Amino acid sequence: MRDSLVTVFGGSGFLGRHLVRRLAERGARVNVAVRDTEAALYLKPMGNVGQITPVQASLRHPPSVTRAVEGADFVVNLVGILYQRGAQSFDAIHARGAEIVAKAAAEAGAKRLVQMSAIGADPESPAEYARSKAAGERLASAAFPGTTIVRPSVVFGPEDDFFNRFGAMARILPALPLIGGGETRFQPVYVGDVADAVVAVLDRPDTAGKIYELGGPRVYSFKELMEIVLQETGRKRLLLPLPFPVAKLQAAFLQLLPVPPLTIDQVKLLERDNVVGEGAAGLGDLDIAATPVHGILPTYMFRYRRGGAKVTPRFG
Ligand SMILES: NC(=O)c1ccc[n+]([C@@H]2O[C@H](COP(=O)([O-])OP(=O)(O)OC[C@H]3O[C@@H](n4cnc5c(N)ncnc54)[C@H](OP(=O)(O)O)[C@@H]3O)[C@@H](O)[C@H]2O)c1
Repeated sequence: MRDSLVTVFGGSGFLGRHLVRRLAERGARVNVAVRDTEAALYLKPMGNVGQITPVQASLRHPPSVTRAVEGADFVVNLVGILYQRGAQSFDAIHARGAEIVAKAAAEAGAKRLVQMSAIGADPESPAEYARSKAAGERLASAAFPGTTIVRPSVVFGPEDDFFNRFGAMARILPALPLIGGGETRFQPVYVGDVADAVVAVLDRPDTAGKIYELGGPRVYSFKELMEIVLQETGRKRLLLPLPFPVAKLQAAFLQLLPVPPLTIDQVKLLERDNVVGEGAAGLGDLDIAATPVHGILPTYMFRYRRGGAKVTPRFG
């Protein structure tokens, strides 16, 4: 990997920063392809002078994608959205965007492509998010034979969207919601392990064309995860069961907010478990030992304790 050029689409995001750091440590040159290059400048000190370069590209603008992959040996597409806004639709970003990246990577002669998907990607899913992720997997693999698909469960780490969101809620609300009764099962995976997995995939030619499902060492129900949030934040809060139809009704209003805390599509996602499939290849096949939540959460969830940090750092 030393001296090779890696283009990372979505490299300024939560997962991106951990991957870019690892690639730089391995001596790769990294093009961080994002819409907002200013928001990616903070990554530059992770490498030597000129090693990490933010480049302007949008998955909705194919010529910019072509420019971003010029000369790339490896391409990683991390771009994903949690809700749709205008032209930033699931179809445009997860499905057609993945195809645009894959076509450009093939035309540029890249050796390998990693497409970041998600556990639950399924053309039959009730959630449009998961259907569009499945379409992205199919379109990317067709345009770039040998694409490696990586599907994490919910990812945790200092800047995550999941534990930080519920930690912030525990700080100000009298109760945390148990959507669908809190029975949905998750297998939280550490962001560092996901980044290590992508590096391992790029390192190992035998991973081409395969699908990896990444989960942590333990499966938890949503209720158990809320209990962990309360334990880590030292808060006593009511856990309020919210049947799926009620959660959808609430989401119908919440999804009108500029940054919606919950959408109907997200409630639909919660109707299915989010755990590594039986027999799926995973972290172990990449020789990575999964990190447990209890080893990491205390390093950042203290922010939500009484007397913890007054300002919540930007997450997500
Ligand atoms: N976090 C999780 O728990 C989790 C779980 C399963 C799967 N995943 C998948 O893992 C990937 C990374 O997730 P993340 O949590 O790191 O996401 P994130 O923090 O939201 O980062 C998303 C990145 O995509 C870029 N982006 C958004 N729209 C774009 C566009 N039109 N063109 C180019 N870049 C665009 C953003 O930068 P700009 O806004 O500057 O363009 C940002 O760098 C996603 O595909 C996600 O679906 C994440």
